[in-house]
Amino acid sequence: MRDAYTGLNRLYLSMHTPAEVAGEDINDPVMGDWLAKNLPSGARILDAGCGLGFDALALHRGLPARPSGKSWTVYGSDFSPDMLADAARVGAAHGVPASRYRQASFAGLAELPDWRQSMDAVTVNYAIYTQPEPSTDYDTYLRESIEGLAAVMRPGGALLLNFRDWTALRAEQLGGADHVVENTHDGVRFHCKYSWSFGPRRGHMATLLMREADGPVRRSDVWFAERSPADIARTLRAARLVPHCIKRHGVGAASFFTLVALKDPT
Ligand SMILES: C[S@@+](CC[C@H](N)C(=O)[O-])C[C@H]1O[C@@H](n2cnc3c(N)ncnc32)[C@H](O)[C@@H]1O
Repeated sequence: MRDAYTGLNRLYLSMHTPAEVAGEDINDPVMGDWLAKNLPSGARILDAGCGLGFDALALHRGLPARPSGKSWTVYGSDFSPDMLADAARVGAAHGVPASRYRQASFAGLAELPDWRQSMDAVTVNYAIYTQPEPSTDYDTYLRESIEGLAAVMRPGGALLLNFRDWTALRAEQLGGADHVVENTHDGVRFHCKYSWSFGPRRGHMATLLMREADGPVRRSDVWFAERSPADIARTLRAARLVPHCIKRHGVGAASFFTLVALKDPT
């Protein structure tokens, strides 16, 4: 599987606010609300596609920005060795054992026997709508990914995942707007600009130009698959994950749907 994130770790700080880096909150507000309200204390939660591990840290800390007094046992996985190494380092600094981080694709989670049917909740945050290669059959990839995620969930467990609101993104791009994300960490400005090209058959590409302050620009091409909430819900149902609620959040190019699905308890 092609790893579009190799070596991007530090530049990926452009995508995270300082509060996220500190593990104050998960960076999807709908997931944060749902988990603080519905996930009982003591639950096991996996952040799949955990990236640099800041959401796993926020979950380990019980989402301090949404005080609920709950604590959860947190796990992380990612197929990118570079990203996973940073996530494990972030976790270790807060007492999360390295053994709770595993290198695995979403589909590959099905091959981890000790995680099988063990998670009360799984989050997939800003990760399932990209495609490994432009030639990937995305619907097969999505089905296999969802099956892998379902394999580590206990019956009755919750899957929380988000995907882009393509209508909002297209509307913004047709207006000619750049999609820029910037954040400052320790006085250093991190910058990422997305340039979108919309392709046929709902396959799109974004060129990401990332840099730190006045440093060199690093380019990464990322391929995306446009699917509607109904398409995603259909794939979930085929894996016996029943859509429970869906909510839209964000504005313009940063508009997303977050969907919660519950695994058939039988
Ligand atoms: C855009 S980043 C988001 C990281 C993190 N979830 C966040 O919200 O900051 C996407 C992450 O998902 C991982 N990823 C993408 N596809 C994956 C797959 N099929 N299996 C496992 N990890 C995947 C990438 O390696 C990357 O670390």
